[in-house]
Amino acid sequence: MWDTPHPQYIWLDGKITPWEQATMHVTHGHIFAHSIFEGIRAYWNPQREKLYIFRLHAHLERLYRSIKIMRMETPFSLEDLVRASVEIAGANTYREDIYVFPTLFFAPTTFLSKMVGPAHTYINTFPNASQLSRPTGVKACISSWTRITDNMLPARVKCWANYRNSAIAWTDATLSGYDEAIMMNTRGKVCEGPGACVMMIQDGVLVTPPVTSDILVSVTRNTILQIGREVLGIPVVERDIDRTELYTAEEAFFCGTGAEVKPIASIDHHLIGNGEIGPITQKFRKTYHDLIRGIDDRYPEWRTLV
Ligand SMILES: Cc1ncc(COP(=O)(O)O)c(C=O)c1O
Repeated sequence: MWDTPHPQYIWLDGKITPWEQATMHVTHGHIFAHSIFEGIRAYWNPQREKLYIFRLHAHLERLYRSIKIMRMETPFSLEDLVRASVEIAGANTYREDIYVFPTLFFAPTTFLSKMVGPAHTYINTFPNASQLSRPTGVKACISSWTRITDNMLPARVKCWANYRNSAIAWTDATLSGYDEAIMMNTRGKVCEGPGACVMMIQDGVLVTPPVTSDILVSVTRNTILQIGREVLGIPVVERDIDRTELYTAEEAFFCGTGAEVKPIASIDHHLIGNGEIGPITQKFRKTYHDLIRGIDDRYPEWRTLV
């Protein structure tokens, strides 16, 4: 099907375009379904004048799990992509916070009936400032859209196709006047946000859904759980959460590479605590802030120097 002779013209972005000119940049041409990726942040430390990629190895380990589940083949090892990420971030001489986006995609000749085989790889980088010190929490709703499930479109794979499910929920939420959505899974339990995991504080305990609840197995989630256990000495529990438990949580926040630690002020118009950023959330934010930039020297293995 894909290797049949091509027509002379193709319609592209509203124009009848000669086939040969209907090209797209590598970062856009394949995003219809098959690409997998990682969104990784690198943080600039102005005092040391150094750029640190945060949790690069953990992200690439997840990328290689996605590669396996997707039956992709790549000639590059994880260490090759570590070196390449450092190289491309360095080549662009950034002196600010950035994103690093490694992406793999099947050649366009790979058809649905046998989506197996070699994948192309690119690593894109672009500036993106941290929002960690935003002064207020966000207004969230429980989405009427259900999160995809593991035997449907595995959320465990960081695949662009999954983000249709995210976009439909998040767009509905913002059009209804909320900032964020929280999705439930097919079992009717709290799952995750469209681009972040969900955490709540209840009786002083940090509670979050388990990795078998159709969430992306988030690097930041693991980081926050480790910070809770090892740095802040806060008890941590991974268990199912009911929707109404969120309404009465003492504190709640999203966490993710993009979201960082994003406090939640209200859910379905129920104020979380008094609607202000809670004291435990604030401790997580401060600790996370200092660790990502290397202000706090602990966990050096989390920061890869560019
Ligand atoms: C659906 C979803 N859940 C959770 C996360 C958080 O994952 P991580 O902390 O690895 O960035 C993301 C991040 O992109 C996401 O898209």
